[in-house]
Amino acid sequence: MKTLSHKIQQIEESQTLAFTQRARQLQQSGIDVASLTAGEPDFATPPHIKMAAIQAIDEDFTHYTENQGTAGLIAAIVKKFASDNNLHFEPPQILVSCGAKHSIYNVMQAICNKGDEVVIAAPYWVSYPEIVKMADAKPVIVEASHDAQFKITAQQLRRAINEKTKAFIFNSPSNPTGAVYSQGEIEELADVVAETGIYVISDEIYEKIVYDGTKHFSIGSIKEIRDQVITVNGVSKAFAMTGWRLGYLGAAEQVAQAAAKVQSQITSNATSISQRAAEIGLKGPMKDVQEMAGEFKRRRDFAVAEMSSIHGLKLCAPKGAFYLFPCMEHFAGKRLNGKIIKDDFDMANLLLDEEHLAVVPGSAFGARNHLRLSYACSMKDLQKGMERFKRGCRKLQEAH
Ligand SMILES: Cc1ncc(COP(=O)(O)O)c(C=O)c1O
Repeated sequence: MKTLSHKIQQIEESQTLAFTQRARQLQQSGIDVASLTAGEPDFATPPHIKMAAIQAIDEDFTHYTENQGTAGLIAAIVKKFASDNNLHFEPPQILVSCGAKHSIYNVMQAICNKGDEVVIAAPYWVSYPEIVKMADAKPVIVEASHDAQFKITAQQLRRAINEKTKAFIFNSPSNPTGAVYSQGEIEELADVVAETGIYVISDEIYEKIVYDGTKHFSIGSIKEIRDQVITVNGVSKAFAMTGWRLGYLGAAEQVAQAAAKVQSQITSNATSISQRAAEIGLKGPMKDVQEMAGEFKRRRDFAVAEMSSIHGLKLCAPKGAFYLFPCMEHFAGKRLNGKIIKDDFDMANLLLDEEHLAVVPGSAFGARNHLRLSYACSMKDLQKGMERFKRGCRKLQEAH
């Protein structure tokens, strides 16, 4: 058989999916596994959104639509960007795709040339570096430390930029850390973006899930860099619609149209039925979205309180999204059952094998010796998961 492409051999498989898969296999063999790996809300999609999809099917709205998205959905997105984000787009500046992941992929293909560099702040969402590599560009990782609340500074961004830099991927609220940048911090980053002329891909998929009065601020609303920012969002997280595969972006017309060209040769339009559903979702009411965010806060408060009782563990309480990202450095290098637990992979494997708790190693997100635990699960599963996590940490604590 002929070999596979060099490109695909350089692409990592998603570790989130790999650990979810292992947990599922254990579950199928009859073991009661608590899984805190999932990046998707456990809630049902709100009923009025489901009804819109059923109606679309009943009306035979089941054919190709415009590649860029239906006029109704695009109008709803234009309105949403204006009212929620102070972003002012015309319809040709919007592209609807099969999930925010697809939006980011289309943009990368549209703007990157071989040898271009794209700056990514670590800890990062697992797919960013791989999507950059698929566009023949090079991910340049800038580390945001735990002590800096997982946020990079304008100086760090400036240092990472050179003449090859094409773009910076910005994600606030962040997966996996839950960090949310303030308006002031974003304005400082924007100064660097303005000076250097690079693009920003602002992934705002978690904007509706923020806590403690934290306000989401869209970097694209800063006038000076408006045309450089590609704002990406979607319905997966806010409306519990992960399976519907519906994301969108707003950008300078030239960029949006280039991304649309990529899409036109790969998938064509996003699913017609999902587009109808998303249109209704975006038009509101937002009661369900607010209720879900309230429930995430309740779970976050519980999980943070549980974790704060674990000796040696460092946690930066998340201000948004639905993940905890504790630093487990203290537990690395201990010997348990004759085996050295050298890093986060060993810890995640230990938790899965001994405690039947599935979590994702931080290395998958560019942060060694951290673990990612999702609280987008039921309170009951979260309680069970935290119980097992504490027990696992206690074992490590007592090891030498
Ligand atoms: C930061 C971030 N961006 C984008 C996505 C993808 O969202 P979608 O389901 O719209 O493709 C995810 C999903 O986990 C995510 O965490």
